[in-house]
Amino acid sequence: MPYTLLIRHCGQLLTLTGPPATRPLAGPDQSGWHIITDGYVACEGSRIAAVGPMAELEESQLTPATRTIEAHGRVVMPGLVECHTHLVFGGQRAAEFERKLRGESYLDILAGGGGILNTVRATRAASEAELLAAALRHLADFRRYGVTTLEAKSGYGLDAATELRLLRVAREAGLQQPVRVVPTFLGAHVPGPEYAGRPTDYLAMLVNEVLPQLDPAEIPFVDIFCEQGAFSVADSREFLTAARNRGFGLKIHAEQLHELGGCEMAAELGAVSLDHADYLSAEAAARIAAATQGRTVAVLLPLVPLFLRLERYAPGRAFIDAGLPVALSTDFNPGSCPSKNLWLALSMGCLKMGLTPAEAVAAVTRNAAWAIGQQQECGSLAPGLRADILVLNVGSLPEIPYWLGDNPVQQVIIGGELVEE
Ligand code: NIG
Ligand code: FE
Repeated sequence: MPYTLLIRHCGQLLTLTGPPATRPLAGPDQSGWHIITDGYVACEGSRIAAVGPMAELEESQLTPATRTIEAHGRVVMPGLVECHTHLVFGGQRAAEFERKLRGESYLDILAGGGGILNTVRATRAASEAELLAAALRHLADFRRYGVTTLEAKSGYGLDAATELRLLRVAREAGLQQPVRVVPTFLGAHVPGPEYAGRPTDYLAMLVNEVLPQLDPAEIPFVDIFCEQGAFSVADSREFLTAARNRGFGLKIHAEQLHELGGCEMAAELGAVSLDHADYLSAEAAARIAAATQGRTVAVLLPLVPLFLRLERYAPGRAFIDAGLPVALSTDFNPGSCPSKNLWLALSMGCLKMGLTPAEAVAAVTRNAAWAIGQQQECGSLAPGLRADILVLNVGSLPEIPYWLGDNPVQQVIIGGELVEE
């Protein structure tokens, strides 16, 4: 088949390929991936067909029907993989934002029936059509930022019917526009209001009434918020074990505000990702990296401490040095991060967590794909992978985190189709 799309004269082609292919990038590998100077990417339909230096482009594969995009010496890279969002919710929490600015804490607001529970009330009151419309608006924003695959958690229903509704909305949103959506079940966000003070009973309800209604082929991951005011390590272990026994991949929100041991527990159960980890120590990270042979990814969310006005950021530099693979994400949600700017999260990963530009780019592409089990589909530019590609308006890798808060995206290609320009 001749090439259907060619992107040429890529000043720096960030392939994100390079050893090892069988694990997320960790240690020196997180920055050791290949950059091609003056390169091209060629696609056949929805897949990448070839990647290489311009001097090696096979002109015989080009036809008059081949669409050509000139990169004019700029950076070209894989589409961003946004591996942790709470995409589907009703309402917003600007009033709580004001309270936080006056000094109230995230957990105090939650304990007072606000926070996540505030959004649960707004979400339950919203119709499925309203939730879908809002999710589609957010996805369009993400797409303009160059996000081409996105994980979307439920977790603002907290009863069986509404949680199932949120998962339906996430799936439907994925079908109605080009960004690929990977849904995650986070019914175990906090105990539903009907189960206040009875977290164990609430989790038993999820295991008995909701998990049997979910198909791991459609909802690949189950997540839980392990934290004071949410679920204990013991309850989280039992819940995740039940989910694993039903064939789901595991994720956890842990060590966000306290060091409870949730990350190590989830890693022991084979979780694909450990998210937040602001209170995870370098020593625990090294133990996790060794125990999981570098297969579990730490998903770091630097916009959350920024937005919650907290001082503590996950020691990403130490994690990478300890051999723990690191991904970065916004954690987009109405409470702890209303931002969809994954580029800002990438810059903050450099500024507050000590990642290098090359490590941070790997954290929003290849390692993020591993964090949601999509590494065979996206996250790098290699033949056979989906043709999800960004042409940026910058000329070199370090400019990506440098233009703080900017959106460097010039063109977005998803599945071989130009969707933003
Ligand atoms: O990932 N930490 C728990 N859950 C979300 C925030 C949810 C909310 O505040 O609405 C998070 O930060
Ligand atoms: Fe989250």
